[in-house]
Amino acid sequence: MSVIVWWLVTVVLVAVHSASARVVELDWEVEYKFWWPDCKEGIVMAINGQFPGPTIDAVAGDIVIIHLTNKLSTEGVVIHWHGIRQRGTPWSDGAAGVTQCPINPGETFTYNFTVDKPGTHFYHGHYGMQRSAGLYGMMIVRSPKEKLRYDGEFNLLLSDWWHQSTHSQELALSSSPMRWIGEPQSLLINGRGQFNCSQAAYLSNEGKRQCTFRKNDQCAPETLRVRPNKVYRLRIASTTALASLNLAVEGHKLEVVEADGNYVKPFTVDDIDIYSGETYSVLLRTHSFPTKKHFISVGVRGRKPNTTQALTVLSYIDAPESARPSLPPPVTPRWDDYNRSISFSNKFFAAKGYPPPPEKSDEQLYLLNTQNLIDGHTKWAINNVSLSVTATPYIGAIRYGLNTLSYLKSPAKELVKSYDITKPPVNPTTTKSSGIYKFPMGIVVDVILQNANVLKGKISEIHPWHLHGHDFWVLGYGDGKFRPGVDEKKYNLKNPPLRNTVALYPFGWTALRFVTDNPGVWFFHCHIEPHLHMGMGVVFAEGVDRIAKMDIPDEVLGCGLTRKWLMNRGRH
Ligand code: C2O
Ligand code: CU
Repeated sequence: MSVIVWWLVTVVLVAVHSASARVVELDWEVEYKFWWPDCKEGIVMAINGQFPGPTIDAVAGDIVIIHLTNKLSTEGVVIHWHGIRQRGTPWSDGAAGVTQCPINPGETFTYNFTVDKPGTHFYHGHYGMQRSAGLYGMMIVRSPKEKLRYDGEFNLLLSDWWHQSTHSQELALSSSPMRWIGEPQSLLINGRGQFNCSQAAYLSNEGKRQCTFRKNDQCAPETLRVRPNKVYRLRIASTTALASLNLAVEGHKLEVVEADGNYVKPFTVDDIDIYSGETYSVLLRTHSFPTKKHFISVGVRGRKPNTTQALTVLSYIDAPESARPSLPPPVTPRWDDYNRSISFSNKFFAAKGYPPPPEKSDEQLYLLNTQNLIDGHTKWAINNVSLSVTATPYIGAIRYGLNTLSYLKSPAKELVKSYDITKPPVNPTTTKSSGIYKFPMGIVVDVILQNANVLKGKISEIHPWHLHGHDFWVLGYGDGKFRPGVDEKKYNLKNPPLRNTVALYPFGWTALRFVTDNPGVWFFHCHIEPHLHMGMGVVFAEGVDRIAKMDIPDEVLGCGLTRKWLMNRGRH
């Protein structure tokens, strides 16, 4: 085809695209499958027989329609589209108990939403611990007019993997006394890891066996094949259940350009920290030698590691198939060097062109993160309420006023002045509730996450907090207990980054700001799956009266009190 014809075709395609949104329509079936994610047989939740699930590749403005069939024989299922704001479709957010009933075995539910802005995202199960069970995949939303320049791209979906089944993990965590699940057995890159061998054994004296892979081994790493003197975009997402990670590419710098679907002011580093729920794009410039191979390493930070690094290989195009990287994989920075972690977080600023946040907030919500007990069961609590999501999805309960009032009562919004965050709780007993905070439409809310000491010892953990339905501005991080009237002065109100996930560091605070401009019921929770399972979350309900004017599909309401409501209304 001549250049002119090509050009014409391109012009026409672009015109068609901007005139009418494309529809990306997919049929998915979720089922358990035997799999070898880390060269040891286990059970994963697969989508259409694949683990990780298929990558969704869309363009901003597209409508995504997914017909999700639950082929699990005895459990419900939902999928959350992490990073998609679901404007106008809050019932498609896929959070069980919050925005919908779990889809019953044998049934099909249709998610239908618009991907309104470009970004690197992922999707995952949001019922019980189904994310840990392997229900996840990448979701790329491309810009029709991408400003970044690069020659190729790769997706790296990072996760952690246990040999103990997630059902057993759930039971262990909710037992009295709680049995902790421990550190993961393996880290996975695009669903692939190696438990009992090392790709880099020939370079180290750890005494691990050198891995040998056969062609279609499910645990064989995916090599990133690159050409010299080019720029590659690595789209990185972490869907770990527990692990905070650090990623580095031996011999290469990384230029960070995107975080959670928002462009950031570019900065260059040797490695990146990535917490569960976060996504990044980094640009990697290749060298001029066409025959080398380099390790990409992913290791644990933030908790004392007991898991070997996940490795994969960056291979230049002319490197012989049999060649191996000549230098060892990058060493993961010390797990407890929190100053290093915080200084990485402090490198983020919004890219040029983003308007600054509103100067003032209308409401301040202080959320104290504590570890507590209920009848001998270990829980996490926010302002002394451990989240327990009921059988009636909040979206229906609130819209139709179905719940008992006491259940929907909001927990405190203020920090207890006398609470000493540096010590175990004086009175560790807490209660379960809905953890719901209601906001009117169109106000500016500041959330100050406050970390504290756990139940025993002198320990405070990292918690990556993720908000559904929104991006928020990260205004700042600080040490110790937040001082109202003082610490606000340190906020970055000029060019804070927009994100949907942010880390709360040990014994510190993190402040964020968002506008209640998206009618819906939105989960806000620690993205560490066992923590959420143990109650570490709240729910923001905003402009719910306006949802009433939209049409919540009956299918999201077929359980709990909303089911009765549907029947009384004679819709079924
Ligand atoms: Cu990716 Cu509610 O989480
Ligand atoms: Cu947590």
